[in-house]
Amino acid sequence: MRKVIVAGNWKMNKTPREAIELIETLKPLVSEREDVEVVFCPPFISLMVAVEAVKGTNIKIGAQNMYFEENGAYTGEVAPDMIAECGVEYVILGHSERRQYFGETDESINKKVKKAFEHGLKPIICVGETLEQREQGITEDLVRLQTKIALKDISKEDAKKAVFAYEPVWAIGTGKTATSVQAEEVCAAIRRVLSEIYDEETAGEIRIQYGGSVNAGNAAELFAMPNIDGGLVGGASLKADFAKIVNY
Ligand code: G3P
Repeated sequence: MRKVIVAGNWKMNKTPREAIELIETLKPLVSEREDVEVVFCPPFISLMVAVEAVKGTNIKIGAQNMYFEENGAYTGEVAPDMIAECGVEYVILGHSERRQYFGETDESINKKVKKAFEHGLKPIICVGETLEQREQGITEDLVRLQTKIALKDISKEDAKKAVFAYEPVWAIGTGKTATSVQAEEVCAAIRRVLSEIYDEETAGEIRIQYGGSVNAGNAAELFAMPNIDGGLVGGASLKADFAKIVNY
Protein backbone atom coordinates (compact mmCIF):
# COMPACT_ATOMS: atom_id res chain seq x y z
CA MET A 1 0.00 0.00 0.00
CA ARG A 2 1.55 3.33 -1.08
CA LYS A 3 1.63 6.02 1.63
CA VAL A 4 0.05 9.29 0.45
CA ILE A 5 2.57 12.11 0.17
CA VAL A 6 1.52 15.77 0.16
CA ALA A 7 4.33 18.23 -0.55
CA GLY A 8 4.19 22.01 -0.49
CA ASN A 9 6.30 23.61 -3.20
CA TRP A 10 6.72 27.12 -1.81
CA LYS A 11 8.49 28.33 -4.96
CA MET A 12 10.14 31.76 -4.57
CA ASN A 13 8.15 32.77 -1.47
CA LYS A 14 8.81 33.35 2.26
CA THR A 15 11.90 34.87 3.85
CA PRO A 16 13.58 32.70 6.51
CA ARG A 17 11.57 34.48 9.23
CA GLU A 18 8.32 34.03 7.30
CA ALA A 19 9.25 30.40 6.68
CA ILE A 20 9.55 29.73 10.40
CA GLU A 21 6.24 31.54 11.02
CA LEU A 22 4.44 29.39 8.43
CA ILE A 23 5.99 26.17 9.77
CA GLU A 24 5.03 27.06 13.36
CA THR A 25 1.46 27.72 12.14
CA LEU A 26 1.24 24.46 10.19
CA LYS A 27 3.08 22.12 12.60
CA PRO A 28 0.17 21.49 15.01
CA LEU A 29 -2.25 21.17 12.11
CA VAL A 30 -0.41 18.59 9.96
CA SER A 31 1.67 16.51 12.38
CA GLU A 32 -0.98 14.08 13.54
CA ARG A 33 -1.76 12.02 10.43
CA GLU A 34 0.31 8.83 10.35
CA ASP A 35 -1.14 7.84 6.94
CA VAL A 36 0.00 10.96 5.09
CA GLU A 37 3.63 11.98 4.56
CA VAL A 38 3.99 15.76 4.67
CA VAL A 39 6.85 17.64 3.00
CA PHE A 40 7.62 21.37 2.99
CA CYS A 41 9.85 22.61 0.17
CA PRO A 42 11.05 26.17 0.98
CA PRO A 43 13.65 28.15 -1.00
CA PHE A 44 17.29 27.14 -0.51
CA ILE A 45 18.08 29.89 2.03
CA SER A 46 15.47 28.55 4.45
CA LEU A 47 16.34 24.83 4.28
CA MET A 48 18.40 24.75 7.46
CA VAL A 49 15.93 26.77 9.56
CA ALA A 50 13.10 24.62 8.20
CA VAL A 51 14.87 21.37 9.15
CA GLU A 52 15.44 22.79 12.63
CA ALA A 53 11.82 23.97 12.93
CA VAL A 54 10.31 20.54 12.12
CA LYS A 55 12.61 18.59 14.45
CA GLY A 56 10.55 16.25 16.63
CA THR A 57 7.69 16.06 14.10
CA ASN A 58 7.09 13.67 11.18
CA ILE A 59 7.26 16.56 8.70
CA LYS A 60 9.97 16.24 6.03
CA ILE A 61 11.84 19.03 4.22
CA GLY A 62 12.61 19.14 0.51
CA ALA A 63 14.62 21.40 -1.77
CA GLN A 64 13.14 22.80 -4.98
CA ASN A 65 16.14 22.03 -7.16
CA MET A 66 19.85 21.18 -7.12
CA TYR A 67 22.72 21.15 -9.60
CA PHE A 68 24.09 17.93 -11.09
CA GLU A 69 27.79 18.65 -10.51
CA GLU A 70 29.48 17.98 -7.15
CA ASN A 71 31.08 21.45 -6.74
CA GLY A 72 32.86 24.05 -8.83
CA ALA A 73 32.57 27.18 -10.94
CA TYR A 74 28.78 27.22 -11.25
CA THR A 75 27.83 30.64 -9.90
CA GLY A 76 24.50 30.70 -8.15
CA GLU A 77 23.99 26.94 -8.15
CA VAL A 78 23.63 24.66 -5.10
CA ALA A 79 25.41 21.29 -5.01
CA PRO A 80 23.76 18.03 -3.87
CA ASP A 81 26.08 17.58 -0.87
CA MET A 82 25.19 21.07 0.38
CA ILE A 83 21.49 20.20 0.35
CA ALA A 84 22.03 16.76 1.89
CA GLU A 85 24.12 18.24 4.72
CA CYS A 86 21.17 20.51 5.65
CA GLY A 87 19.22 17.39 6.63
CA VAL A 88 16.88 17.65 3.63
CA GLU A 89 15.15 14.41 2.54
CA TYR A 90 13.52 15.29 -0.81
CA VAL A 91 14.40 17.39 -3.83
CA ILE A 92 11.98 18.54 -6.52
CA LEU A 93 13.55 18.01 -9.95
CA GLY A 94 12.38 19.03 -13.42
CA HIS A 95 9.62 21.39 -12.37
CA SER A 96 8.01 22.91 -15.46
CA GLU A 97 9.05 26.38 -14.33
CA ARG A 98 12.67 25.24 -14.38
CA ARG A 99 12.16 23.68 -17.78
CA GLN A 100 10.45 26.83 -19.05
CA TYR A 101 12.60 29.59 -17.54
CA PHE A 102 15.94 27.91 -16.86
CA GLY A 103 16.44 25.56 -19.79
CA GLU A 104 16.12 22.29 -17.89
CA THR A 105 16.00 19.29 -20.24
CA ASP A 106 15.03 15.67 -19.69
CA GLU A 107 18.73 14.82 -19.94
CA SER A 108 19.80 17.38 -17.30
CA ILE A 109 17.02 16.13 -15.05
CA ASN A 110 18.31 12.57 -15.39
CA LYS A 111 21.79 13.76 -14.32
CA LYS A 112 20.20 15.41 -11.28
CA VAL A 113 18.18 12.29 -10.43
CA LYS A 114 21.40 10.23 -10.44
CA LYS A 115 23.20 12.78 -8.24
CA ALA A 116 20.26 13.01 -5.85
CA PHE A 117 20.38 9.28 -5.17
CA GLU A 118 24.18 9.36 -4.83
CA HIS A 119 23.66 11.82 -1.97
CA GLY A 120 20.79 10.00 -0.30
CA LEU A 121 18.15 12.45 -1.52
CA LYS A 122 14.73 11.31 -2.82
CA PRO A 123 13.76 13.08 -6.05
CA ILE A 124 10.24 14.34 -6.71
CA ILE A 125 10.38 14.18 -10.52
CA CYS A 126 8.00 16.52 -12.32
CA VAL A 127 6.50 15.66 -15.70
CA GLY A 128 3.58 17.19 -17.60
CA GLU A 129 2.33 18.76 -20.79
CA THR A 130 1.51 22.27 -21.96
CA LEU A 131 -2.02 23.12 -23.12
CA GLU A 132 -0.80 23.09 -26.73
CA GLN A 133 0.62 19.58 -26.30
CA ARG A 134 -2.62 18.39 -24.72
CA GLU A 135 -4.61 19.89 -27.59
CA GLN A 136 -2.26 18.13 -30.03
CA GLY A 137 -3.09 14.83 -28.29
CA ILE A 138 0.52 14.06 -27.38
CA THR A 139 0.20 14.20 -23.57
CA GLU A 140 0.74 10.49 -22.94
CA ASP A 141 3.63 10.17 -25.39
CA LEU A 142 5.33 13.19 -23.86
CA VAL A 143 4.93 12.09 -20.25
CA ARG A 144 6.12 8.58 -21.12
CA LEU A 145 9.26 10.03 -22.72
CA GLN A 146 9.92 12.41 -19.81
CA THR A 147 9.59 9.50 -17.38
CA LYS A 148 11.85 7.17 -19.38
CA ILE A 149 14.65 9.73 -19.77
CA ALA A 150 14.44 10.84 -16.13
CA LEU A 151 14.98 7.22 -15.04
CA LYS A 152 17.75 6.33 -17.55
CA ASP A 153 20.35 4.12 -15.74
CA ILE A 154 18.43 4.37 -12.44
CA SER A 155 18.23 1.07 -10.54
CA LYS A 156 14.99 -0.52 -9.44
CA GLU A 157 16.00 -0.03 -5.82
CA ASP A 158 16.56 3.70 -6.26
CA ALA A 159 13.49 4.16 -8.46
CA LYS A 160 11.31 2.83 -5.64
CA LYS A 161 12.47 5.78 -3.51
CA ALA A 162 11.55 8.35 -6.16
CA VAL A 163 8.24 10.20 -6.31
CA PHE A 164 6.72 11.35 -9.61
CA ALA A 165 4.58 14.48 -9.88
CA TYR A 166 2.27 14.83 -12.85
CA GLU A 167 1.86 18.57 -13.27
CA PRO A 168 -0.04 19.71 -16.36
CA VAL A 169 1.54 23.08 -17.10
CA TRP A 170 -1.87 24.54 -17.99
CA ALA A 171 -3.11 23.81 -14.45
CA ILE A 172 -0.17 25.33 -12.56
CA GLY A 173 -1.06 28.59 -10.85
CA THR A 174 -4.16 28.99 -13.00
CA GLY A 175 -6.90 27.75 -10.71
CA LYS A 176 -7.82 25.44 -13.62
CA THR A 177 -7.29 22.04 -12.03
CA ALA A 178 -7.23 18.93 -14.17
CA THR A 179 -10.32 16.81 -13.57
CA SER A 180 -9.72 13.73 -11.46
CA VAL A 181 -10.35 11.64 -14.60
CA GLN A 182 -7.74 13.57 -16.61
CA ALA A 183 -5.22 13.38 -13.76
CA GLU A 184 -5.85 9.65 -13.22
CA GLU A 185 -5.44 8.91 -16.95
CA VAL A 186 -1.95 10.42 -17.03
CA CYS A 187 -0.87 9.05 -13.66
CA ALA A 188 -1.96 5.59 -14.83
CA ALA A 189 0.12 6.09 -17.98
CA ILE A 190 3.14 6.98 -15.82
CA ARG A 191 2.55 3.80 -13.80
CA ARG A 192 2.39 1.75 -17.01
CA VAL A 193 5.70 3.09 -18.29
CA LEU A 194 7.27 2.44 -14.87
CA SER A 195 6.21 -1.22 -15.12
CA GLU A 196 7.66 -1.37 -18.66
CA ILE A 197 10.98 0.05 -17.45
CA TYR A 198 11.14 -2.14 -14.34
CA ASP A 199 8.28 -4.49 -13.43
CA GLU A 200 4.76 -4.31 -12.02
CA GLU A 201 5.86 -4.75 -8.40
CA THR A 202 8.33 -1.86 -8.63
CA ALA A 203 5.82 0.36 -10.46
CA GLY A 204 3.28 -0.42 -7.75
CA GLU A 205 5.62 0.91 -5.08
CA ILE A 206 6.46 4.24 -6.73
CA ARG A 207 4.26 7.11 -5.60
CA ILE A 208 2.76 9.46 -8.18
CA GLN A 209 1.45 12.87 -7.12
CA TYR A 210 -0.80 15.25 -8.99
CA GLY A 211 0.11 18.97 -9.03
CA GLY A 212 -1.67 21.95 -10.55
CA SER A 213 -4.14 24.08 -8.58
CA VAL A 214 -4.69 21.49 -5.84
CA ASN A 215 -6.80 22.97 -3.04
CA ALA A 216 -8.89 21.97 -0.01
CA GLY A 217 -11.92 21.56 -2.27
CA ASN A 218 -10.47 19.10 -4.81
CA ALA A 219 -7.77 17.20 -2.89
CA ALA A 220 -9.99 14.39 -1.59
CA GLU A 221 -11.40 13.53 -5.04
CA LEU A 222 -7.97 13.66 -6.69
CA PHE A 223 -6.20 11.64 -3.99
CA ALA A 224 -8.92 8.98 -4.08
CA MET A 225 -7.99 8.03 -7.65
CA PRO A 226 -6.24 4.63 -7.90
CA ASN A 227 -3.00 5.96 -9.39
CA ILE A 228 -2.78 9.29 -7.56
CA ASP A 229 -0.82 9.05 -4.30
CA GLY A 230 -1.04 12.65 -3.09
CA GLY A 231 -0.24 16.12 -4.35
CA LEU A 232 2.47 18.62 -5.12
CA VAL A 233 0.90 21.88 -3.98
CA GLY A 234 2.02 25.39 -4.90
CA GLY A 235 -0.06 28.42 -3.97
CA ALA A 236 -2.26 26.62 -1.46
CA SER A 237 0.84 25.46 0.51
CA LEU A 238 1.73 28.99 1.58
CA LYS A 239 -1.06 29.36 4.12
CA ALA A 240 -2.79 27.50 6.95
CA ASP A 241 -5.29 26.09 4.43
CA PHE A 242 -2.55 23.67 3.38
CA ALA A 243 -3.53 21.67 6.47
CA LYS A 244 -6.98 21.05 4.96
CA ILE A 245 -5.29 19.42 1.97
CA VAL A 246 -3.09 17.25 4.20
CA ASN A 247 -6.15 16.28 6.27
CA TYR A 248 -8.32 15.72 3.15
O1 G3P B 1 4.91 22.21 -7.90
C1 G3P B 1 3.57 22.49 -7.61
C2 G3P B 1 3.10 23.66 -8.37
O2 G3P B 1 3.62 23.70 -9.66
C3 G3P B 1 1.59 23.74 -8.43
O3 G3P B 1 1.29 25.08 -8.26
O4 G3P B 1 -0.07 26.94 -7.41
O5 G3P B 1 -1.00 25.37 -9.17
O6 G3P B 1 -0.69 24.58 -6.80
P1 G3P B 1 -0.20 25.52 -7.89
